[in-house]
Amino acid sequence: MSENDNELKHATEINTQDKEIVYRRPLLAVICFRIVIAFRVVLPKSLFLCFYRFAFASYKFIYRNVYLARGIFSGKGEAMTFLIHDCMKYSLVGWEGMEATYQVTRRIFSNKISGDLVECGVAEGGSALLLCRLNEEYDENRQVWLFDSFEGLPEPTDDDFKSGKTGFHVRPLPKGSCLGTIENVSNLLFDKYRIDRSNVELVKGWFQDTLPNKASKIDQIAVLRLDGDWYESTKCCLIHLYSKVVPGGVVILDDYISCFGCKKATDEFLQENGIDAKIELDGRGGAWFLKP
Ligand SMILES: C[S@@+](CC[C@H](N)C(=O)[O-])C[C@H]1O[C@@H](n2cnc3c(N)ncnc32)[C@H](O)[C@@H]1O
Repeated sequence: MSENDNELKHATEINTQDKEIVYRRPLLAVICFRIVIAFRVVLPKSLFLCFYRFAFASYKFIYRNVYLARGIFSGKGEAMTFLIHDCMKYSLVGWEGMEATYQVTRRIFSNKISGDLVECGVAEGGSALLLCRLNEEYDENRQVWLFDSFEGLPEPTDDDFKSGKTGFHVRPLPKGSCLGTIENVSNLLFDKYRIDRSNVELVKGWFQDTLPNKASKIDQIAVLRLDGDWYESTKCCLIHLYSKVVPGGVVILDDYISCFGCKKATDEFLQENGIDAKIELDGRGGAWFLKP
């Protein structure tokens, strides 16, 4: 077992045939969730939205800094802790998801698995920034492809719902939520963090419109990070991009447990294509697997 494999040992392995997986929210999220629900019942809608924005920003602030403190005091790799703490400022991804992305991407680099880095679902650019910074830190100079509508989420479809819910997420996710604009992401990557522009392609549009054409420009993928939440979004990315992932490359599904449609799309795709993948959970709601 390599050093990187060892770092991944916290992840739980499951079988894709498992239908029900119990997902436990962190205590902080459970408390916040209950408070939000209570306020939604008692407050008028406009007041609730103001409260919600404030509560979410405060939650993110506390969450990031708890992560930093835990990282420093637990003696976890400092480089990882500082990098993830910094990128989380611009991300909706939890720290377990960011750590999984950090570790599997490093493993891909150290195992010299060739191919580009691709993220579908960029929002404000936090996890994309993590990929770009790892790419530069490890002097990899790989091409990074970042796909998003940059108009926020589309509507979920029937395939996303189970008993009237789309998943375990704390945030409500109506159309247009999780919005990041291409201008802000571009400023973040190229102006604030001085990422080399020639290594990055930002592709604006719905996956269903952009991927059929852009996929032909991508030769090989080493890291495919899917973070589009919904069934149609995930399925579309798998259909157009999975064949480009090299054996030993990784597919990260940020919403595999947290959004029902993401799991449904992935399980269907794996089954339809006879792919026997060992899915590893990141402990928060996401998962990843290595392409056999
Ligand atoms: C949860 S956010 C991504 C979070 C991001 N990775 C981060 O670090 O915060 C989901 C993103 O997927 C995008 N998205 C979802 N479905 C899409 C589709 N069919 N086409 C284009 N973008 C889509 C949304 O615009 C949104 O920005």
